[in-house]
Amino acid sequence: MSLEKTLEDNRQAYVDELVDFLKIPSVSARSEHKGDMMKCAEWLKGKLTGQGMTAEVILTAGHPIVYAELMTASPDAPTILVYGHYDVQPVEPLDEWKSPPFEGTIRDGNIYARGTADDKGQVHLHMKALATYQEAKGNPPINIKFIFEGEEEVGSANLETFVKENVEKLACDAAIISDTPMLAPDLPAVTVGLRGMVYSEVRLEGPSQDLHSGQYGGGVENPANALAKIITQLKDENGRVTVPGFYDAVQEISSVEKKGLADLPITENDFKNEAGVSATGGGEEGIHWLERIWARPTLDVNGILSGYTGEGAKTIIPAKSMAKISMRLAPKQDPKAIRDAYEAYVKSLKPDGVDMEIEFHTDALPWSADPEGPLFVAASSAINAVFGRDPLFIREGGSIPIVPMFEQILGVPLLLLGFALPGCNLHSPNEWMSLDLYHKGIAVMANLYDEIAKEYAK
Ligand code: BES
Ligand code: MN
Ligand code: MN
Repeated sequence: MSLEKTLEDNRQAYVDELVDFLKIPSVSARSEHKGDMMKCAEWLKGKLTGQGMTAEVILTAGHPIVYAELMTASPDAPTILVYGHYDVQPVEPLDEWKSPPFEGTIRDGNIYARGTADDKGQVHLHMKALATYQEAKGNPPINIKFIFEGEEEVGSANLETFVKENVEKLACDAAIISDTPMLAPDLPAVTVGLRGMVYSEVRLEGPSQDLHSGQYGGGVENPANALAKIITQLKDENGRVTVPGFYDAVQEISSVEKKGLADLPITENDFKNEAGVSATGGGEEGIHWLERIWARPTLDVNGILSGYTGEGAKTIIPAKSMAKISMRLAPKQDPKAIRDAYEAYVKSLKPDGVDMEIEFHTDALPWSADPEGPLFVAASSAINAVFGRDPLFIREGGSIPIVPMFEQILGVPLLLLGFALPGCNLHSPNEWMSLDLYHKGIAVMANLYDEIAKEYAK
């Protein structure tokens, strides 16, 4: 039978199974969901075993890893490793969801739930691509390994250890990752660059308790004012980060890439509408907004807390303040070096009369690659067969910590081919995924098996 017909026949069954997957609240950051993480891993193992793979749940110091393989092609056939993450971000603020985050509600051809786009929907499309292929044509002409982790949203530290200790088990000719968006519903995209990350938490402590702001204001340093002042000194008036040495390793993108970026068939207006803002901003003056997001580093406050924020007025000098401040890094910037330079600089900005503590959370390395060789030829053909056009090669501003690790540790090319869309509310309320693109993603991946076999045989 044809792949198309098989997919058509299974459309509803696949969506029903996806809904079951989405119903498990696999929030990696919250300890109260520890049991759900295991439940989700076991659910995956059950489904993968059910479709003929050898699957296992691997325990780690954190949440489990799910590993499965189908090694039915000849030993000389290429092997691909498919990576995805079954963990999701927390769902708060809950009252902004139009339908419950862990139900999977379909509206206007889109499925809404936490994890639809990031990344459970995209994990599931790989599972169903293999199922579709097997039902239509039997075992694929390549060997397939799946690795799905439960800690991407918290930095993938345990997966990194696992990959280092299991290079043989994970040996492959290419890794495929669907955890990125396309550019638009009719503009498929292969991502060839990701930003890295350094994430800090800065805490200031002033007076030993909140004080009357009339009695003490002007006489003691205010931790809220002090923190605000520090933050404003982290970027200059042209939007450049002021941490000494911050830009040392940053490489200018080529003029060809700059032009390519400016010529992409998406407009600044599309972007403003998607983000719900009246103007672009927040980065370096004089640089194209897409280049700023995709290829330039930046610094942002992710959260800030201090003093009285309840109803009415309360006149105090707060005892303490805190902010979560992160930096997105461009290719070649080293998270460790940036961490040190940032820490020294922030400490140098501390005024007298407050104590400062800086804590770092997870880092991620930046990544970029040249889309050359059989993997990318195969991807273009598979995409073309479904979308009727070649993919665009783009970068993204987000981070996927394991991507540069796979490249370094396994030494294979990586194909980042995702089917989410801009505006599908990753990490936000009302996250969604287009069901049409979910099905197209299945079709692309099933086609890709044949294309990879063909290209690697050349
Ligand atoms: N899937 C995203 C990464 C992403 C987002 C790529 C948008 C391209 C466009 C991933 O799940 C994610 O959110 N990563 C975190 C990494 C962090 C927790 C180490 C991120 O980018 O904030
Ligand atoms: Mn993701
Ligand atoms: Mn994410």
